[in-house]
Amino acid sequence: MIDVEAALVARARKPGQFVIIGVSDDYGERVPLTIAGVDAEKGTIRLIFQRVGKTTAEMADMKVGSDLGYVAGPLGNPTHIEKFGTVVCVGGGIGNAPLLPIATAMKAAGNELISILGARTKELVILEDEFAAISDELVVITDDGSHGRKGLVTEPLKEICQRKPQPDLVVVIGPAIMMKFCCETTRPFGVHTEVSLNTIMVDGTGMCGGCRVEVGGKTKFVCVDGPEFDGHEVNFDLMMRRLGAYKAQEQRAHEQYKEHRCKIGLDD
Ligand code: FAD
Ligand code: FES
Ligand code: MG
Repeated sequence: MIDVEAALVARARKPGQFVIIGVSDDYGERVPLTIAGVDAEKGTIRLIFQRVGKTTAEMADMKVGSDLGYVAGPLGNPTHIEKFGTVVCVGGGIGNAPLLPIATAMKAAGNELISILGARTKELVILEDEFAAISDELVVITDDGSHGRKGLVTEPLKEICQRKPQPDLVVVIGPAIMMKFCCETTRPFGVHTEVSLNTIMVDGTGMCGGCRVEVGGKTKFVCVDGPEFDGHEVNFDLMMRRLGAYKAQEQRAHEQYKEHRCKIGLDD
């Protein structure tokens, strides 16, 4: 979790929006990260990220006080917030970070908030206290049962959809496969389900097409048309194939980064 000085972004940002950062301003890739919170007075934005590959490893290795190359944003459309009634927010792993500002805004708009936080294991459950503070009902569930209930988020989600009255809206953020199965869970109940898609992005402004997805049979760009979409309309299988398109290059970049750090004696 890092706080980044970016006063103009902090002032303009709304829940659901993201930034694209460059660790260096003259080389390396551009990485989208959701603005998980802001301190408007200090002019800082909060980013919460998981170390998964080369760029997030580089960011995690940065020392407090050092500079990012650039921060572009706020990008993407803000979440549509209103009083729907009962809203279920479902987070998977690092998805809890982008979900928190949306859940907070939904609660502030007068909704009854049910949060379901899922992860593979105890260590990967993040922001539980923050969700507990705003939720009317909180379910924590891990694949291995090391914390909370044992199982997958789709199980409590199905139970909640079976209640009368049904929830009015479900919001899901997490790995693509988890969002897909949450949408399959809510579909037979006809409960509207919003998902926030985490496709590969480059410019973040609708120019490169890297983030394209199929929604309702039409091509959409996640950066300018999203990142949130009606989950029942998203072609998740295509999205997952496109997410894996650069796996070999990503792995090579990560290996090279780890090897380089090892040589200069800073490996953790
Ligand atoms: P890599 O080894 O390069 O990639 C690991 C996996 O991440 C890839 O297989 C691919 O599925 C995905 N990925 C790779 N490059 C990109 C890219 N340029 N854009 C998007 N995904 C990519 N992650 C968080 O931890 N916290 C967040 O708050 C967060 N918010 C996001 C918001 C949006 C709108 C999007 C699109 C993605 C968000 N992500 C977030 C995902 C994050 O961008 C990727 O984890 C990151 O790019 C991985 O970079 P890497 O070099 O460390 O790993
Ligand atoms: Fe380039 Fe969306 S990231 S079009
Ligand atoms: Mg990368």
